[in-house]
Amino acid sequence: MCGIVGYVGKEKALPRILSGLKFLEYRGYDSAGVAYILNEKVNITKRVGRIKELESSVDYNLDTYIGIGHTRWATHGVPSEINSHPHQVGKFTVVHNGIIENYLEIKEKLIKEGVNFISETDTEVIPALLDYNYKKEKDILKTIKKTLSSLEGSYALGIICSDDLDNIYAARCGSPLIIAKEDNGNFIASDVPAILSYTNKYILLEEGEIAKISKDNISVYDNELNKIIPKENIFEGTEDAAMLNGYEHYMLKEIHEEEKVYLDTLNYYVENNKFKNTMLEFKDYKHIHIVACGSAYYVGNIGKSLIEEYANIPVDVEVASEYRYKKNFYDKDTLVIIISQSGETADSLAALRKAKEDGIDTLAIVNVFGSSIAREALYTLYVKAGPEIAVATTKAFLAQTTLLTLLAVRLSKKEELLKEFVGLEKSINELLNKDYLEYAKYIYKHNDTFFIGRLVDYALCLEGSLKLKETSYINSVAFQAGELKHGTISLITDGTPVISICTDDLVRSKTISNIKEVKARNAYVIFITNEFIESDFYDKIIVIPKVSKLVSPIISVIPLQLISYEVAKLRGCDIDKPRNLAKSVTVE
Ligand code: AGP
Repeated sequence: MCGIVGYVGKEKALPRILSGLKFLEYRGYDSAGVAYILNEKVNITKRVGRIKELESSVDYNLDTYIGIGHTRWATHGVPSEINSHPHQVGKFTVVHNGIIENYLEIKEKLIKEGVNFISETDTEVIPALLDYNYKKEKDILKTIKKTLSSLEGSYALGIICSDDLDNIYAARCGSPLIIAKEDNGNFIASDVPAILSYTNKYILLEEGEIAKISKDNISVYDNELNKIIPKENIFEGTEDAAMLNGYEHYMLKEIHEEEKVYLDTLNYYVENNKFKNTMLEFKDYKHIHIVACGSAYYVGNIGKSLIEEYANIPVDVEVASEYRYKKNFYDKDTLVIIISQSGETADSLAALRKAKEDGIDTLAIVNVFGSSIAREALYTLYVKAGPEIAVATTKAFLAQTTLLTLLAVRLSKKEELLKEFVGLEKSINELLNKDYLEYAKYIYKHNDTFFIGRLVDYALCLEGSLKLKETSYINSVAFQAGELKHGTISLITDGTPVISICTDDLVRSKTISNIKEVKARNAYVIFITNEFIESDFYDKIIVIPKVSKLVSPIISVIPLQLISYEVAKLRGCDIDKPRNLAKSVTVE
């Protein structure tokens, strides 16, 4: 996912822009660039690779007070300087986050009009169309309005026009963009962490809105150029939310915030074992669809187990990228729940919009305040995980699992179950303070790992497997424990690492039987369970606290997260920014 930072003010622009881009590195990128105004000219510097490449090519102390910067996660066109942003055509220079779906059609039309293109990107059509329209419109805001009406797809834009060297222009549709106010100037940025070092006051640009930002004024317009008074927000977190705070990696820092995140999320909805009015009332839905991507989808699988078990409502869990295209069976008695940490995942947003178009009730379970999914769903319940910087989600996963568990209790109408949450933070703390290095020392030397479990433990296996894959690049698969013998067990050889999760008494003996099947093939078994058992069917055992079945999934994920972290560290991986990955996938 690309990152945008712009600044216009009384302070030098480049230090602010480049430091802001660094706080957006977690979004994933492969090149970076900046445009700034100096000697009445728009200057552009772009580099492939990390921001430090760009930093070494730009003189921080230049007397420039307005600029726009960008980190690019390549979608159309390989990572190269030419394809990097900012893109400039004629009088217009642009940085963009999103995808212009109809760029080829626009490009062909403009080429016929004599416009030259130098990059392979979809983005370049934006400054080209702006410059083309400006020749007729002569007014920058009208030009922007006319240009945006021709674009299909998603965009967050930072725009500079060489006829107006005092203002940055901005617009958004489908990709987030904030405008932040500092004492001596104003920012545009893709996300709050980019500006937290300077201010916590920000405006969330709404869908279709256009902004004109000078060093001491912010004007926001709707898509008909009617001026509007935007809502001002104060970011609740503190600067340390975007800082490492002494940890080596954001992933480790965020895992160690899980005790606080659990309590913040629980206490936002529950007081004295009773729901507060922050927890929604729901009608008697007959069916629930949970729709999400990646780890959020695995939270959905945990939610399915709990809602079916405690609220006795059938639940289908679907991957958003499938759900948005397939035939779905729902009606007025169905609730569609979209789970998303970022609230900007394109497939999840599209699935939400499809359910809404079909008149179905929708509930968003989101971490990022004011995100697209949060604002477009009929109902929204926020988790209280705070900004999650590491690409691999951890604390948000635990917070989402906590909230889905609360939702299962809400839908069950058995409020007395809330007492089972009391004191769980002690178990979280216990698991956070265990040492998982010995397990990681075995796993990191292998390129294949298996996770096996049954029922809700299988959902945790799915998440554990993804954590290991995305942070340590080890090929890993999760299987229902009973399924392994139907083919995949052929892959088990001497020493193959198999991590088994077994917390559910109902299937404990069956899972142990399955573990014995792989042990008989000389697998190396790490057994994660909540009841110690002396036996030779495992090589290592990790005993987690035995808590109620309802809240057990909340704590079971912690060993999996920390094992993955230790393995990735031993393998020297880029833990917070794994290759090829972005924090939020805002493109299809
Ligand atoms: C999780 O570690 C991954 N980074 C990824 O699977 C993520 O969960 C998925 O892209 C969904 O993101 P969202 O929760 O922001 O929608």
